[in-house]
Amino acid sequence: MNAMWLAEPSQWLKSGLRIGAGLTIGSLAYSRVRHHLVYRRLLHGHCPCDWSATACSKVYVHRPEEESAVARIIRPAKDSPGSAMFFYIVGSSGCGKSTCVQWVCNQERSGCIYVTAHRKSNDFAGRLQDALLMLDNLPNPVRLIYDVALRIGHESAVEDAASSKLVACCQALKEAAEGYRRKCGRPAVLIIDSAELLAGQPALEELLEASRGWADQGLVRLVLVTSEDSFVKRLLDNTRCSVSGSHEVEDLNSGQALAFLQRRGLDGKACHELVNHAGGRCIELVAAVESLHNGQSMEDVKQLILSAAERLYQEAGLLDDTIHRKAGLRVVDALLRSPDRTVDFATWNRLVPNPKDKEALLSSNVFSMQHKHRRIGFDSRSVERYAQLHLKDVALSDAHCDCCA
Ligand SMILES: Nc1ncnc2c1ncn2[C@@H]1O[C@H](COP(=O)(O)OP(=O)(O)OP(=O)(O)O)[C@@H](O)[C@H]1O
Ligand SMILES: [Mg+2]
Repeated sequence: MNAMWLAEPSQWLKSGLRIGAGLTIGSLAYSRVRHHLVYRRLLHGHCPCDWSATACSKVYVHRPEEESAVARIIRPAKDSPGSAMFFYIVGSSGCGKSTCVQWVCNQERSGCIYVTAHRKSNDFAGRLQDALLMLDNLPNPVRLIYDVALRIGHESAVEDAASSKLVACCQALKEAAEGYRRKCGRPAVLIIDSAELLAGQPALEELLEASRGWADQGLVRLVLVTSEDSFVKRLLDNTRCSVSGSHEVEDLNSGQALAFLQRRGLDGKACHELVNHAGGRCIELVAAVESLHNGQSMEDVKQLILSAAERLYQEAGLLDDTIHRKAGLRVVDALLRSPDRTVDFATWNRLVPNPKDKEALLSSNVFSMQHKHRRIGFDSRSVERYAQLHLKDVALSDAHCDCCA
C-alpha cells in the first residue's frame, strides 16, 4: 500500500486536494449557517429572563419612569448614528437594574442581546457565544485544527482560546448587525449586565476595541450595566472612551415598594411598616419577605435589616480606627443635619478633602453619588436609619476637625 502511494505521488496529491476542498466547503457552509443563526438571533433578540411570562408578571412592579429612561438607551431610534463607545446604566447594588433592563429588553426584543458578565474571560466569551447562538458546539473542521494548533503552540492556551472566541463573537455580531441595520435601519444593542466583573480583564479591552469600530459605523450600541460608579469612572479616566448616554436607576418609590410587598403576599400593615423601615431597595425587600414567610417576626426582620446596615458601616471602616473614619463621620453628621439627607459636591469636597478617602468612602455601600442631582447621599434607607439610631452622637463628637471649624 505504502509503496503504491510512494510510486504514485499524484494519488496522495489528489486525496490531499479532496480533503482540502472538503474542509473549505465544510467551513464555508459552517460560516453561512452560523451567520444566518446569529442574524436570526439578532432579529428576534435575546434576553434570558422574560418578566412578562405569567409567573413573573404577577410579581413584577412597573416603574414607568425608569423603564422609559432605560428604553431610550437600549432602543436606538431609527437611523441613529454611531457616535460613542458605550452607554451605561448604573444604580446601587440591588436597586433593581437587571430586572428593569430585562423587562424593557423583553418588550423590545428585536435587536437586543442581553448577556451577564463573568469574572473569567473564557466563561464570559462562552456566555456571549450562547447569547448569539454561535453554534460552537458543532465542530467546525477548520476551527478544530486551529484550536489544536493553538493549544500546542501557546502556554496561555485558555486565555488565547477565550480571546479567539470573543473576537469571533464580535465579528459575527458585526456581520449580523450589518444585515440588521439594512433591514431595520438602526443599530443592534449589546447589553452587558454586571459589567464590573470584567474590570481588569482582556475581554473588556477587546470589547471596547470592537465597540469603537461598531460605533464608527453605527452598527452595535454597547450598553454596560453596573452597580459600581468607580468602574465607570475608571473606564472613562483610563481609556479614551466616550459616553453618549447614561441612566441612573434608583430605589423603588414608596408606592412601588408597597406594591412590591403586596404582590409577594404581605398585608397592608406589614407593607407600610417595612417600607418605612427599609425604603425601596429591592434586594432588602426580597430578603425581608423571605424571612417573614419563614416565620420570623416583623421586629426580628427590622433588626436583621439594621444588622446588615451595620455590616456595611463596618466594611466601610467607619466603625473602626481607619484613616477615613473621621471624614466618613463628618459626612454622616452633615447628611443627618440636611433636610433632604444629601449634600452637594462642594460640601462633600470640603468634608472629604483627601481623594483617597473619597474613593474609599464612595466605593463602600454607605454613601452614593446621585449623578442626576449632583449630590451625595446615604446609599439606602436602612443605612440612613442605622446612622440616625446609632451614629448621631458618635458623628457629632468624633467628626469635627479643623477643616470644618
Ligand atoms: N420591578 C420589580 N418588580 C418585582 N421584583 C423586582 C423588581 N425589581 C427588582 N426585583 C427583584 O429584586 C431583586 C433584586 O433585583 P435586581 O437583581 O434586578 O437588582 P440589581 O440592581 O440588578 O442588583 P445587583 O446590583 O446585585 O446586580 C430580584 O430578586 C428581583 O427579582
Ligand atoms: Mg444586577
